Amino acid sequence: PDGADFVVVANRLPVDRDDSGPEPVWTTSPGGLVTALAPVMQANDGAWIGWAGIPDEDIEPFDIDGMHLVPLTLSSDEVVSYYEGFSNATLWPLYHDVIVAPEFHRTWWESYLRVNTRFAEAAAKTAAAGATVWVHDYQLQLVPALVRALRPDVSIGFFNHIPFPPAELFAQLPWRSQILNGLLGADLIGFQRPADAANFRRAARVHAGFATKSSQIRVPENPESGTGAHIAEARAFPISVDTPTLDAAARDPETIARAQEIRSDLGDPETLILGVDRLDYTKGISHRLKAYGELLADGSIDPEQVTLVQIATPSRERIEQYQQIRTDVELAAGRINGEHSDLGTTAIHYFHHSFPREEMTALYLAADILLVTALRDGMNLVAKEYVACRTGEDGVLVLSEFAGAADHMNQAVLVNPHDIDGLKANILRAIEMEPAERRRRMRALRRRLIRDDVQSWSRSFLDTLEALDDDKDLRR
Ligand code: G6P
Repeated sequence: PDGADFVVVANRLPVDRDDSGPEPVWTTSPGGLVTALAPVMQANDGAWIGWAGIPDEDIEPFDIDGMHLVPLTLSSDEVVSYYEGFSNATLWPLYHDVIVAPEFHRTWWESYLRVNTRFAEAAAKTAAAGATVWVHDYQLQLVPALVRALRPDVSIGFFNHIPFPPAELFAQLPWRSQILNGLLGADLIGFQRPADAANFRRAARVHAGFATKSSQIRVPENPESGTGAHIAEARAFPISVDTPTLDAAARDPETIARAQEIRSDLGDPETLILGVDRLDYTKGISHRLKAYGELLADGSIDPEQVTLVQIATPSRERIEQYQQIRTDVELAAGRINGEHSDLGTTAIHYFHHSFPREEMTALYLAADILLVTALRDGMNLVAKEYVACRTGEDGVLVLSEFAGAADHMNQAVLVNPHDIDGLKANILRAIEMEPAERRRRMRALRRRLIRDDVQSWSRSFLDTLEALDDDKDLRR
């Protein structure tokens, strides 16, 4: 093969298609991953393999912003069984502390295996000799070993963007050894938190019987999958955001003007509290609303002075548990507004749609407090985006202990979202915090985020992978 020296494999391509005009128009989606990887792609003849998000449609490979995109097709059946099923109704809840019960269906597993095989074949076909292949996230955990079997010459990295569960929970998965063997086909397996990496290494010991030594796992030859013996490294690489770009956007006079306009549209509240989440049961939105509703009911918060803007972006809407959480959240928001809003004052401004990038920046700039109350979250980039936009070094981040971000954002007001009284007390504490303390905390958070941005994340992962590749022969 004479393809790409750097291949990214992810369930989604980093693009959106706009079909409203006469011709479809592709634009790159504004996520952190694409900003981090685009420069690496441009410098290395990079290719990105993924699904464009449209079922049943064959789309030819195309170039955008200096990146070569290779769209893979998912049939409508595969959307149900591989994407909504095994990825998001089996693995997603299992890896997020079983907040809802994972469903185990053999047909979903078969579909997951088939789709992973197709991704791996495309990667093997696209990669140049000795290339680097970087596989992303829980939808594609079988890809590393499948690529290794097809292309033993390439160097393989895997990054898991979501938590990796404790071995005792992982044990439930009927296909646990296949998943472990799939991941262990990589040379480097990255996780958000040291605890996730430790969970994985323990699972490799307990459920696959492999020996580990500090961050290394000794993977024996596997005649069944056709992979040779090697040493895999599993450790934490906490992901971050594109701090310089967010910081610059927040300093744009238009954004600043828009932030002021938002506050005045909301009736110039003394305190504007913001929540921004995909509408997912892992995000603890109901817990947040419960605490907020009680604060209004007991008179601790006056809706004329404090207002909450809750953005809940639509997500995975055909899955039952996502329909349930939507009903719960909308019922709670409706009840709270019914009781505590008045003509001219709205207790909670609830939105079930996404906002354009510029509007999000203005909202972060307008908000005095950001509430993140996830019950379990790999990292939570919303918390980091908020901090990156707080150029005035003011504002309070209330952050769940159960988000990966809490590991290194200890200047936030940390909360246990299950403890409603504690959550209420900490929301009040954030509202009442003295400016000097707010500034001291935000400054510390920003200092760290300026150093640890998404570029340094991808650089550190890829440098580690390259170093492993360099002394591969020594470690065999
Ligand atoms: C999480 C996952 C990503 C996923 C995203 C959006 O952040 O880690 O892999 O792409 O959610 O979910 P969706 O199912 O719409 O891709």
